[in-house]
Amino acid sequence: MNKKSVKDVYLGGKRVLMRVDFNVPLDKSQRITDDNRIKAALPTIQFALQEGARLILMSHLGRPKGEVKPEFSLKPAAKRLSELLGKPVKMLNDCIGQEVKSVVDNMQEGEAVMLENLRFHKEEEKNNPEFARELASLGDIFVNDAFGTCHRAHASTEGVTHYLESVSGFLVEKEIEYFQKILTSAQKPFVFVLGGAKVSDKIPVIENMMEKADAILIGGAMAYTFMKVKGIDIGASRLEDDMIETVKNILDKAKQKKVEIILPIDHVITDDIESAQNVKTTDSQAIASGWMGVDIGPKSVNLFSEKIKGAKTVVWNGPVGIFEKEKFAVGTKALAAAIAQSDATSVIGGGDSAAAVAKFGLADKMSHISTGGGASLEYLEGKVLPGVAALTDK
Ligand code: 3PG
Repeated sequence: MNKKSVKDVYLGGKRVLMRVDFNVPLDKSQRITDDNRIKAALPTIQFALQEGARLILMSHLGRPKGEVKPEFSLKPAAKRLSELLGKPVKMLNDCIGQEVKSVVDNMQEGEAVMLENLRFHKEEEKNNPEFARELASLGDIFVNDAFGTCHRAHASTEGVTHYLESVSGFLVEKEIEYFQKILTSAQKPFVFVLGGAKVSDKIPVIENMMEKADAILIGGAMAYTFMKVKGIDIGASRLEDDMIETVKNILDKAKQKKVEIILPIDHVITDDIESAQNVKTTDSQAIASGWMGVDIGPKSVNLFSEKIKGAKTVVWNGPVGIFEKEKFAVGTKALAAAIAQSDATSVIGGGDSAAAVAKFGLADKMSHISTGGGASLEYLEGKVLPGVAALTDK
């Protein structure tokens, strides 16, 4: 990456303002159900503390829309970080203001504090320059290690860079390195596995991946719109009518470019997703009227797994079934296992795919699991991530 990193500057004695993505899932009792994002930021946090930085951590959590909502407090994250570090992390009541300033002014070297949720202020998402300047005034240098939020041009990711020297943390560096390699020098054959509910969310990534991948395997609800365009009956499965023309164009383009688009050849179906009482596996690619596809079937698993086996690079974005429900999780689990067993470089997009890999206990078998759902998707679409672009050039 041609951006400065924490390795290119000296942090000792400095007030280091670090953006992390501690937007972690919480249960009803405010307990963190997945602390991977906190763990992923540890190397940079530990490095800064070892260098003797006065570390001021900032993050958002959820979408409180500019209002102070206690259920979106970063307190549980600060507590978890403190446990992982084995040292106290003082939680502050706000992210700007006189009280915050005076705590920061009295910090010791090697000490860490956590600011309260940035999105309790509407100015954060608006990238308000005055708010960004106030945040920046807390630090002597800015470190961005919040890969999951780098696709947002917010005050804490982009705004602050106008006021401070701005460098990447190790997590941002590692994520960009993997994704850059995928986009510029992926080893072939390159197989892109794509799932998820909506075609409309995935058009830009399909367009960009058609320039890079040798095959695109499509599962999840989005596959049914592709099947419909090919004239295959999809019963009561989800169909995006307004995407039909777009999908036609994609299929034509794929043919021209000789990129294989591979669709499921059998399905797990139900007549009622909620109750999931009646569940069957089809023998054919077609789905009978009144039935909905909810997962790929065993023949599709074999077909997709063979493609994955022959690949040198596999990138996976989106589950191929409603994997939150056990009855509809078989296909996603089998694909995750096929990717885990393959010798290919395997890169897993954040969000649902990362959650699926973790749920099936296969995380340590993958080359890289991204901490960013939206951020990894936008990078694979070929977009510039504003949080990265704004960092100081090397
Ligand atoms: C994420 O979970 O993808 C990031 O933390 C960004 O959150 P956002 O989509 O609410 O901006």
